[in-house]
Amino acid sequence: MYPNVKSVLIASHNSGKVKEIRDLLQPFGVEVFDASGIGIEEPEETEPSFTGNALLKARAAAKASNKLSLGDDSGLCVNALGGQPGIYSARWAGPSRDFGVAMARVEQELLAIKASDYSAYFICVLALVWPEDANGEMKELVFEGKVHGHLRFPPKGNNGFGYDPIFVANGQKISFGEMDELNKNGMSHRTKAFEKLIAEVFAD
Ligand code: IMP
Repeated sequence: MYPNVKSVLIASHNSGKVKEIRDLLQPFGVEVFDASGIGIEEPEETEPSFTGNALLKARAAAKASNKLSLGDDSGLCVNALGGQPGIYSARWAGPSRDFGVAMARVEQELLAIKASDYSAYFICVLALVWPEDANGEMKELVFEGKVHGHLRFPPKGNNGFGYDPIFVANGQKISFGEMDELNKNGMSHRTKAFEKLIAEVFAD
């Protein structure tokens, strides 16, 4: 447990993610800042893994703000596409972040290889990074969560964000885009990573 955690800076400009993280942290009475709200730039994601990119974002925000910072790197991994779009999930939506385009690309790539396996998972890696201590060291914790399911086309539902309208979690009949946020948050990859973070940082 880390009883001195009174505030957290979310190292993301993605409003969908920021909202979900705010809701997840709300019960712990933590003051939540977000990077765009306090003018912190998001660095380019140059690492080849979710963990590397989550750490890169949290380290940059902790350095720039001197606040405890939370980086989230997440994405959709499609098994028949060898895990793509994976760390490129946001980039498949192009510079205008049009997820209609990204979801159409996933469908086209599956059709192109005549895939019969539409299984996929969302993964979320959270990196919590404390600002430098007197010795110039940054304490870091990393947590991972996944939710498995399959893809269904055409996209359905206007809730959530990103690839939610094509993702149906195992045991569910409707997509994340059709679910209300309480239900999605109850089973999402981000929630699973958060449960691990909360157990380590906030639990007695
Ligand atoms: P990044 O972590 O900022 O690189 O962006 C991850 C991308 O993965 C997002 O822009 C979404 O496209 C996708 N993604 C991550 N989590 C979710 C989710 O819960 N629902 C839908 N798409 C997601």
